Amino acid sequence: MEAAQPSNGGPNGGRPTTIVIFGASGDLTKRKLVPALYNLHVKGQLPEGTRIVGYARRPYDHGEFRSLMRDGVEEFSSGTFEEQAWEEFEASLYYARGDLSTPADFERLRGMLEELEGGPSDRLYYLATAPKFYAPIVENLGGAGMVGKEGGRRVVIEKPFGRDLASALDLDRRIGAVFREEQVFRIDHYLGKETAQNVLFFRFANTLFEPVWNRTYVDSVQITVAESVGVGHRAGYYDTAGVLRDMFQNHLLQLLALVAMEPPASLSATFLRDETAKILASVRPVEEGSVARETVRGQYEGYRGEDGVAEGSGTATYGALKLQVDNWRWQGVPFYLRSGKALAEKASEIVIRFKKLPHSMFPTADGEETTPNVLGLCLQPDEGVHLRFEAKVPGAASRMRPVDMTFHYADAFGEDGIPDAYERLLLDAVHGDAALFIRSDAIGLSWRLIDPILRAWENDDVPLATYAPASWGPEEAEELLASDGRAWLRSCGGHGESRVEAEAAERTT
Ligand code: BG6
Repeated sequence: MEAAQPSNGGPNGGRPTTIVIFGASGDLTKRKLVPALYNLHVKGQLPEGTRIVGYARRPYDHGEFRSLMRDGVEEFSSGTFEEQAWEEFEASLYYARGDLSTPADFERLRGMLEELEGGPSDRLYYLATAPKFYAPIVENLGGAGMVGKEGGRRVVIEKPFGRDLASALDLDRRIGAVFREEQVFRIDHYLGKETAQNVLFFRFANTLFEPVWNRTYVDSVQITVAESVGVGHRAGYYDTAGVLRDMFQNHLLQLLALVAMEPPASLSATFLRDETAKILASVRPVEEGSVARETVRGQYEGYRGEDGVAEGSGTATYGALKLQVDNWRWQGVPFYLRSGKALAEKASEIVIRFKKLPHSMFPTADGEETTPNVLGLCLQPDEGVHLRFEAKVPGAASRMRPVDMTFHYADAFGEDGIPDAYERLLLDAVHGDAALFIRSDAIGLSWRLIDPILRAWENDDVPLATYAPASWGPEEAEELLASDGRAWLRSCGGHGESRVEAEAAERTT
């Protein structure tokens, strides 16, 4: 997000870049990375002379690798496939065969890269492998002299970064022994989403909302990241991770940071990430004795029968947390976070519920209250913003009804207006702009919040609730809010049942 303009010159000085993807035969490369790079090529946004080298163990040659990647682009790219653009693009795609933990293979890779580059070149090493290989790859890059000073050398590391605080610190130490912090780009693809970045624009590019963005006006904040799919073919990884490691430690806490942070001095990597660290440090860790009261752990029915899931697995596929932020702005305002797989819809949204009226001069039916104002920052798939307020129902009676004022990206910017998160992040990494990547301190601060919950869940201090696939998660998650006199709210998307039900429930509390 640095003000730097990517172009032929660009902040990397216009030097060509070689992007080396470790784990090139995996899903991420085919579904996300290469389609994103292809789209950047079509838009003319990659620096002149960019090369992409896939590295994995499978015995492909360049041609086979190109044809596999073509399948990936045709299937998964958000843009339309253009034969001529593909031909230009594939000429910059190469394949190197090698093992991730064999030093000699890295020596060979170095030789190949030097030959390809034929002179000074920046390099971006992208670790799209299983996490257990992150440290060995970095150490092998160091051992083979591939992290030297000539040209920019950067490494992009996928999530999950560690399994808990201790392992994350250990990984950081091993990476830090080879790369300087400015060279390390820890990716959280949620930060590459336009709608996540728009949270900052919405808050700080407008004068209207910031004055009420605090404990005086805000009753509570809800962050929902719901998925309709189950674990699918990723059970091998997911069953050892679970929802806390997979979604909360990274995506949900980063969204919380965007909603709750103080205005950064600028959008530069340093200032933006300073504010992220500050707000994460202000979140109060759930106390050991309160985990059962302030968190809900769930698993969808049928999860244990999925391919690759351990027999009798206790892995949570759903989580709901109540967090408190100890600072002047947010003291006493609960932040409710929930995420899960096999839920009713794919929907990510941030809901700001404002306080009730101090006094209503309008008559309401017996026992009924006015609906509080609700602001929905709709992240996906219905990207936009919804603001709900009360309006007078036309007619002689003084009746009112909540109505929505809405903004949708598709209406304002057209259907093609939203590039994939990986496009933005890959481009930023190529240009060395780390603003939308996670700094080392934020990783530790996030694990510090997740660790006590993980421990309690793994000790079964919190019972594992079950929920029906295609529902909104376990009953217990409703109770988490009901016991505070609140209900989960939906603000975005179609005005469906769940939203109406939540409102109805709320009106009776
Ligand atoms: C990934 C998780 O980080 O995010 C997946 O590992 C999850 O389990 C995915 O499905 C969700 O991303 P998105 O962009 O589809 O919301």
